[in-house]
Order: sequence, then structure tokens, then C-alpha cells
Amino acid sequence: MRVSTKELFKHCYGKYAIGAYNINNLEQAVGLFRGNLGKIKTNTDPTDPAVSAPFILQISRGARSYTDKRFLEAIIRAAEQIFPEAIFAVHLDHGTEEVCYDCIESGFYTSVMIDASHEPFEKNIEITRRVVQRAHEKGIVVEAELGQLGGVEEDIKADVKLTDPDQAAEFVERTGCDSLAVAIGTSHGVAKFKGAQGVRFDRLEEIQKRLPPGYPLVMHGASAVPQELVDRINAAGGALKETSGVPEDHYLKAAQMGVCKINIDTDGRLVWCAVYRESFRDNPADFDPRTPGKIFMPAYAEYIIHKNKMLGAAGKLEEVRQFLQQA
Ligand code: G3H
Ligand code: 13P
Ligand code: ZN
Repeated sequence: MRVSTKELFKHCYGKYAIGAYNINNLEQAVGLFRGNLGKIKTNTDPTDPAVSAPFILQISRGARSYTDKRFLEAIIRAAEQIFPEAIFAVHLDHGTEEVCYDCIESGFYTSVMIDASHEPFEKNIEITRRVVQRAHEKGIVVEAELGQLGGVEEDIKADVKLTDPDQAAEFVERTGCDSLAVAIGTSHGVAKFKGAQGVRFDRLEEIQKRLPPGYPLVMHGASAVPQELVDRINAAGGALKETSGVPEDHYLKAAQMGVCKINIDTDGRLVWCAVYRESFRDNPADFDPRTPGKIFMPAYAEYIIHKNKMLGAAGKLEEVRQFLQQA
């Protein structure tokens, strides 16, 4: 069942965070749905209520154009039928104004992110406000971004510019955006921190204090970049250097400070890369796309279960279902 992030955020605010996971292809979609239902090996495994979780399925502009946006939509519609117990939102990740409008008109997305964070403050407000207006007319909610994360984001390479708490309050009030992605020291990709750098919880606290009570914040660039996965990739021919990620025990701490949505893409790519590299290394005569795919889907499902446990979302699915029925 596709639901709005608005309801999910009401349920989780201050207690746990919802995982927002990017997908690009079928195998990622299957692993993601299975993981969020606690099914590992097959689609027909019984759902495990002890670990099942609501989730946000994110689609970036790159994912939409990788093959054709209609393929992803079709995969998700099929997953909705195959996994009717799932409760999830479909979200555009880092949209431009034009792509936001396309998603709003599609009737398929439950939320969009307008990312005009690279624009000057007033221009960011102007663009975000336009998107909010169009989205709200259709009952779709909007995430916006203020400040800049580091790393590579679509075609933009950025230096970190932390979100200014006073500007955050003004931005939310003037744009009417439903959630705000804040720059608190994280970056996209595999290299997030240098030396003693880390997540700026002091800044997060200041931002939360200045926003209306219960206002949902979003943490981008939240992958943990586990050394174990980096080592597996490098042992199978990869060349990942100087990696660092967000410690997973930060997720719940951030959730308690108003972060309702935690974006994870890189970690999923690392699971994918480790499995595919190992599979072809270990079976050099093999050329069947299904061989690594069959290993990846359960591995990704297990990884999602692990992530949801770290987010505090594991085991919340039935509670959320009841909450939605009462709303
Ligand atoms: O924020 C960036 C996300 O990780 C999406 O990455 O644009 O390469 O799909 P992508
Ligand atoms: P990671 O690169 O840390 O996974 O961040 C993903 C993200 O923020 C997607 O919007
Ligand atoms: Zn992001």
C-alpha cells in the first residue's frame, strides 16, 4: 500500500526514523520489499512481524533515466501486488522543478523532493514555494533542502555548507514545505568525513529548536559505508579508497532530535557491488545474470532488516497499519 510520508512521519517523530532507500533496478526492488517484510529467501516466505517496517522507496533522476521511468513504475506496481502487506511511500529524490512537476502529474509518487539548495536563499524559497503549491493541489507532500551536503549529487559536486537554523525557520514558514533536508555535516557517497569530522548534532539541535513542534527533518548522506563491505569489494578486485560513513548508532540519536527520514543509497550499492564482484570472481566461467542476482536479493533483504533495526523501524509495520486505519 502506497502512503504519504506525512502519516509515516507523524507516527515516528521523535521515536524512530523511516529508511529511505534508492532503487534503480528489479533486484534492488525485490530485495527492498522482501527486507521490509522480513522475508529473505523468497517472495512467498511468511512475513515476520518482529522485523517488518514501513519504508520510503526513493527514485532519483538518474534512476528514472537509467532505462525509462516507466520500467521502475511498473516494477513497483508489480511489487505492490506481490507484497500486499507492504506499507511504503514513493518519493522523488533530489528533483528539479521540471521533474517534480512530472512526478506530481504522474499520480504515482506520494512525495517529491525539490532540491534547489544550490540556489541563493531567496531563489530556493521561490522555486520551492512554486513546487509546494502544485504538489499540495494534488495532495502530494514536498521535501525541500536548505544548506549543502558534500560529495556528488546527480550532476552537482558540492562543498559542505551547514544549514543555518534561523534561515531554516524562515524557509519552512515561507515555503510551506512538509519536511526539510538539512546539511549537518554528512555527504553523499563513500567518503563522508575527514579526520575528526562527524555529524553535527549541535547544529541539528539548533535547527530543531527553531522549527514548529513535530516538524520532520531529513538526513541525507546517511550510509554507514561498512568497512566489511569495502574490504569484500576490494578483495574481489575493487579499488575503493579513503572511505568513511555515518556510524549506525547515530540514526536513533538523530531520530530523537526530529529526523524522521534517513536516506540510504550508497550502502545498498556496496552490497550490490560486493555480491556481484565475488560471484564473478568465484565463478569465472559463469555469465548468467541470475547467478549474482539470486545471491544479491536475499543479501539485500538481510541488509535492509539490519538497517531497519538500527533506525528503530523494525517491527513497527503493524503499529503503523493500525495508526493509518485510525487516522
Ligand atoms: O543523492 C544521491 C543519491 O544517492 C542518488 O544517486 O543520482 O546516482 O541515482 P544517483
Ligand atoms: P548516501 O550516499 O550516504 O547513501 O546518501 C543517499 C542520499 O542522500 C540519497 O538522497
Ligand atoms: Zn541525498
